[in-house]
Amino acid sequence: MPSDRPVEARGLVKRYGPITAVDDVDLTVEPGDVYGFLGPNGAGKTTTLRILLGLIRPDGGEARLFGRDPQHELPEALDGVAGFVETPYFYPYLSGRKNLELLAAFDRDGGRARIDQLLQLVDLSGRADDRVGGYSQGMRQRLGVASSLVRDPRLLLLDEPTNGLDPGGMRDMRRLVDRLSGEGITVLLSSHLLAEVEELCNRVAIIRTGRIVYEGMLADLRASAGTNRYRLRTTDSRLARLTLLEHSDARDVSPDGDELTFSAAEEEVAAISRMLVGAGLGITALVPEQQSLESFFFELTEGEPVEAVA
Ligand SMILES: Nc1ncnc2c1ncn2[C@@H]1O[C@H](COP(=O)(O)OP(=O)(O)OP(=O)(O)O)[C@@H](O)[C@H]1O
Ligand SMILES: [Mg+2]
Repeated sequence: MPSDRPVEARGLVKRYGPITAVDDVDLTVEPGDVYGFLGPNGAGKTTTLRILLGLIRPDGGEARLFGRDPQHELPEALDGVAGFVETPYFYPYLSGRKNLELLAAFDRDGGRARIDQLLQLVDLSGRADDRVGGYSQGMRQRLGVASSLVRDPRLLLLDEPTNGLDPGGMRDMRRLVDRLSGEGITVLLSSHLLAEVEELCNRVAIIRTGRIVYEGMLADLRASAGTNRYRLRTTDSRLARLTLLEHSDARDVSPDGDELTFSAAEEEVAAISRMLVGAGLGITALVPEQQSLESFFFELTEGEPVEAVA
């Protein structure tokens, strides 16, 4: 039964001998999501994506892509779906352009007319006629994204697309994902970097040793992590402290060098900033404390096993 929902997975299980690589995984990706599948090395991200792409059989559970079952309805289930797991594979002795042309040919030349545009999109126009064997890892990753786009997908599955890239390459890949999302493509990407998922994704699933320990909106994850703590730097720390203590709903106001930290709900922070300015203070920094989300993430993925929080 076709549906609008890009991904729905229920109770996925995959065992390799004594290892349960994927242990009762549920995922729900809604149209327009940039969905972060976040977890440390060996957590089961690639294995889950392989199941979704119909590359391996699960030992239990079911998956649907736009309502179709990739285990039993190939190739229809991959209609409008593209992506790769781990490193994209190309013919190394052929050029980037030729590799894309071959993919288009498999697809009855569907995307052939767009190849130049795709090469430009992933910033490979200048090297398109060089052999892929001579490409750097970043170039291969970008060619991987271009090859996925040959099929003009509605859903893109990307397995750690920034893996092995330098900071500039990571930034370019993130911009690309952002841009594709802006064009209406739903993206499911795996990552082991919290900061990356925070930057790109609206929804997140955190996986640890095969089990989902959190699934939901990133904003709700922030709330569960208690990241309602803020750091404030102003032109007059003492006056800022007095103003916060006497005239605002800020809680646990504490000085930290020439800065202050305090707790408040996000909507209170707007009022607080106006009040500080009204008191004649200049605000030079007012930022949420990231530490607690990061430590919450490590607690979920590395600490003592915890009960799932969602
Ligand atoms: N074909 C296989 N045979 C045996 N074990 C496997 C196989 N594929 C995966 N595993 C095991 O399943 C677990 C999950 O692996 P998976 O590759 O899905 O993790 P991952 O989250 O993608 O990790 P990474 O961040 O390192 O890519 C690991 O313990 C891995 O060793
Ligand atoms: Mg992997």
